[in-house]
Amino acid sequence: MKNNDENSGRRDFMKKTTLAGVGLILAKPFHITANPLQVGDKVNVAVVGCGGRGNGMIFQNIPKIPGANLVAVCDVIESRRENAKNRFEAKYNTKVSAYEDFYKMLRKEKLDAVVLATPDFWHMQHSVDALKDGLHVYCEKAMSNNIQDARKMAEAMKETGKLLQIGRQRRSNDRYRFTYQKLLKQEQVFGRITHAIGQWNRSQIWTQQPKKEDNIQLAVLKKYGFDTVDQVYNWRNYKKLGGGVVSDLGSHQIDIFNWFLDAFPHTVYATGNNSYHGYEQADTMAAILEYDTPKGKSIGIYENISNSRAVGNFERFVGDKGAFIISEGKENKIYRESRVDASEWQKYVDMNYLSRGSDMTMYKDQNKANAQADSGIRETAPQVSYNIKEMGDMDKVYNMRAHTAHLYNFIESVRGEETLNYTAIESYKSEVCIYKIHEAINNGGAKIKIKPSEYEV
Ligand SMILES: NC(=O)c1ccc[n+]([C@@H]2O[C@H](COP(=O)([O-])OP(=O)(O)OC[C@H]3O[C@@H](n4cnc5c(N)ncnc54)[C@H](O)[C@@H]3O)[C@@H](O)[C@H]2O)c1
Repeated sequence: MKNNDENSGRRDFMKKTTLAGVGLILAKPFHITANPLQVGDKVNVAVVGCGGRGNGMIFQNIPKIPGANLVAVCDVIESRRENAKNRFEAKYNTKVSAYEDFYKMLRKEKLDAVVLATPDFWHMQHSVDALKDGLHVYCEKAMSNNIQDARKMAEAMKETGKLLQIGRQRRSNDRYRFTYQKLLKQEQVFGRITHAIGQWNRSQIWTQQPKKEDNIQLAVLKKYGFDTVDQVYNWRNYKKLGGGVVSDLGSHQIDIFNWFLDAFPHTVYATGNNSYHGYEQADTMAAILEYDTPKGKSIGIYENISNSRAVGNFERFVGDKGAFIISEGKENKIYRESRVDASEWQKYVDMNYLSRGSDMTMYKDQNKANAQADSGIRETAPQVSYNIKEMGDMDKVYNMRAHTAHLYNFIESVRGEETLNYTAIESYKSEVCIYKIHEAINNGGAKIKIKPSEYEV
C-alpha cells in the first residue's frame, strides 16, 4: 500500500523550506540516511503520555532522529508533563508546550504527527481523531484492548489515507528484518517450518507504585476514565483499560509468528489464570495457534509466566532444514539439521549471512554420546550451530536501536522518504489473534476458530 502520496500540501511546503547544507551536519551520525536530512523537512510531533514509554520517546528516540521536532507534550498528570517539558527544554535549549487535554493541544499547535504512549484504552479515540484532523499517528501497541476499536483504527487509516504506524518495534529491528528478508524469504534456509514457539517470562507482574511528586488529583483522572489512583499506574491489570501480559508481551511475539510464517492462525486454544498475583488479568497463560502456511501446517505455542524469569524471553522457529532462536536480547542462534550437508550452508557463510558457531559439544564427545544412548535418549539428528550475521547484506539497515528505528521509519515515511514498515492494517491482523486469546482465556480455556474474513479491514 502506498501511504505517502496523499500528504502533498504540507510536505511540499516542508521540502520548499529546506535549508541546504545544514542537513549534512545533522545527518552525520546516521550512516543509513540515503538523502541527507534537511532542517526544513522536520516533522512537528507531540508526544501524548509522559510515562515510561513516553519518556523513552522524548529523551531516547526523538533526539536521535534528525527529522523529528518535538513541539509539545501531553499528560493528564501535571507533574509528568511539566517534568518532560522542563527537562527537554533545558537539555536541548528549545521550547516545548505542555498540555493536559489532547484536543486543546490539537487546536493550538501546528502539528504534523502525534506519538501516542498512553494506556491502551485511549489509543483508538486519539488515533482516529488525529487522523481525521489530518495528522499522521505513531501509536504504541497494543492498538486497543478490544477488537472493535482496533478495527476502527485500521479503518480510519484506510479512509483518511494518513499514516498510522503501530509500535511493535521488532518490525524495524535489523536482526528481525534480516532474518525475514534474507534467511526466510530469499534463501529459505530453514525448509518447512512446523513450529513457532514464543515465551516471555518474568519474575513479576508489571506494577507501578504512586510517587509523592506525582501529586495526583483524582478529580482530574476521573475526567479521563480512571476510577481510582491505582488504575492510572496499573492500567495494564484492569480489563477495561489494558490487556495484561497477553497484549503487553504476547502481542509483540505472536506478531512475529504471523510475520515469519506468512500466515495468520485459523484456530486458537488458550488458557490462563490470575492465581499467582490475583489481578484482573491472567498472569500465567499458554496458547496454541494453528496455521496453514504457504509451506504446510504449522503450530504456534506461546506462554507467559509472571513468577519466574528462568526460561527467558525469545521466539524460536523449527523447520526441517534448520531452526533458530531470535530475540531483542542476547538469545540468538541458528541450528542446521544434520540431514542438511554442511556444504549446503557454506554458501550462507560465504555470503556473510551466517558465521559458524561451535558444534554442540555433546556430539563431539563420544563418551557422552554413548552415555546418552545408554540412558535410552538418542538424538537422531544432531544439530550444528551458527550465528546470525545480522548486519549482512540487507536491503535496508537502520543501525539504530529498535524503538528509535521504528519511530525513524515513521518520521521518514511522513517525510516521504520511506514507506511504513508496519501499518495499522497489518497490525490489526495480529491484534485479532490477541483478542481471540483473551476471549479463550476469559471463557475458561476455549478453542476459537477465526475466519479469514475476520482478518480483513
Ligand atoms: N513497544 C514497546 O516496547 C512498549 C514498551 C512499554 C510500553 N508500551 C506501550 O506504551 C503505552 C504506554 O505504556 P507506559 O508503560 O508508558 O505506561 P505509563 O502508565 O507509564 O504511562 C502512560 C501515561 O499516559 C498518561 N495518560 C493516561 N491517559 C491519558 C490521556 N487521556 N491523555 C494524556 N495522557 C494520558 C498517564 O498519566 C501516564 O503518564 C502502552 O500502550 C504500552 O503498551 C510499549
